[in-house]
Amino acid sequence: MSNSAKLSTGGKDLEYPVLSGTVGPEVIDIRKLYGQTGQFTFDPGFTSTASCESAITYIDGDEGVLLHRGYPIGQLAEHSSFMETSYLLLNGELPSTSELADFTRTISRHTMLHEQLATFYRGFRRDAHPMAIMCGVVGALSAFYHDSTDISDPLHRKISSHRLIAKMPTIAAMAYKYSVGQPFMYPDNSLSYTGNFLRMTFGVPAEKYEVIPAVEKAMDRIFILHADHEQNASTSTVRLAGSSGANPFACIAAGIACLWGPAHGGANEAALNMLKEIGTPDKIPHYIARAKDKNDPFRLMGFGHRVYKNYDPRATVMQSTVREVFDALKVNDPLFETALELEHIALNDPYFIDKKLFPNVDFYSGIILSAIGFPTTMFTVLFALARTVGWVAQWNEMISDPNQKIGRPRQLYTGSTERDYVPLDKR
Ligand code: ACO
Repeated sequence: MSNSAKLSTGGKDLEYPVLSGTVGPEVIDIRKLYGQTGQFTFDPGFTSTASCESAITYIDGDEGVLLHRGYPIGQLAEHSSFMETSYLLLNGELPSTSELADFTRTISRHTMLHEQLATFYRGFRRDAHPMAIMCGVVGALSAFYHDSTDISDPLHRKISSHRLIAKMPTIAAMAYKYSVGQPFMYPDNSLSYTGNFLRMTFGVPAEKYEVIPAVEKAMDRIFILHADHEQNASTSTVRLAGSSGANPFACIAAGIACLWGPAHGGANEAALNMLKEIGTPDKIPHYIARAKDKNDPFRLMGFGHRVYKNYDPRATVMQSTVREVFDALKVNDPLFETALELEHIALNDPYFIDKKLFPNVDFYSGIILSAIGFPTTMFTVLFALARTVGWVAQWNEMISDPNQKIGRPRQLYTGSTERDYVPLDKR
């Protein structure tokens, strides 16, 4: 074997192939390990495990690089649109003018929801977290669109992918409208994907809604920044759920549930809440000390990342977008100054330097979203909306892979060995 890894275990000398991708770390192919040795590998949190082969997104966390189908995220954020980036993620190449027009038209034709779905919303309490509504309504799509759930049929997969990408803004906006007691707004397909979402969220039937181009652009860019991020927790959840053959709507609902957690998509909400709690720059040292204290559960939200051990490239774009939105809306939020100061202090503190903790995409996004008018509970919903394209691209890639297997990790069992049942009166 030319490129292999040797392992001596259980009295055997074994050799495993080392596989190379186009770029990035090599992987040791241990698929035969259990069959040959009766042993598993142990890697909770998958810190050293590649769970699949993928050609969609590449991250070099040490260098702060994020590529979609080879294109750097900074270039996409500057020059592309969310629709174009979605096409790229789904199809592997940037579209021609006519391909982009066709794709955009197809998506806009799927923006409406089955009318009966509106009654679902009324079953939720008004104060329900919109992510709870998202989990429920997206899961329910499988009950409404069962004409596209034969996952072995590429056309069904394509239609359900388009439906998910197109309907997510409508579902998200309706979750918001329900929480504030305003009427649902039907989509306006003459607007862009993002402009339509803003109108469905902030418009009311009684008045004409004017989309502010700078806000539309900033929001579109935020969607691009969140579109995909290789095998993160929610994407891995979508893949794992999909590996059993579950329908795409149910799989995406599972991804939404995972994204909700504060260690993942919920961090943008947590980051803004933290900045509000800190309030003014003079309080920063107190919170930095708490973040460093091992006995205090407090962490700097929006800081640190499993993969990035350098500045998250998305945070760079996010930081510059704050100013654009402030200028367009003629607002200023003192929390931005607090955030800049917090970043500055943390990046010069040996604790954060040694642990390679840098701002991630969520550190600045809350400030922008709040300036646009979104309540904090909607932040993770916006993340889910944008990440849907990444989820469906990854799900499609997995289902199309002829070597695809059900995802079934093993364990290191530390419970009781076999023992006899003890009747209740003898315990
Ligand atoms: N504040 C203070 N200390 C931190 C932070 C933080 N935000 N993040 C990590 N650390 C410390 C840990 O205490 C740990 O210290 P130790 O080695 O002394 O025990 C060390 O840095 C490594 O941290 P882990 O939690 O082991 O790293 P992991 O890769 O498992 O976690 C995570 C990554 C969950 C993102 C973590 O950095 C965190 O909780 N950050 C805050 C939440 C956040 O912003 N999440 C958004 C992630 S981006 C996204 O999902 C879009």
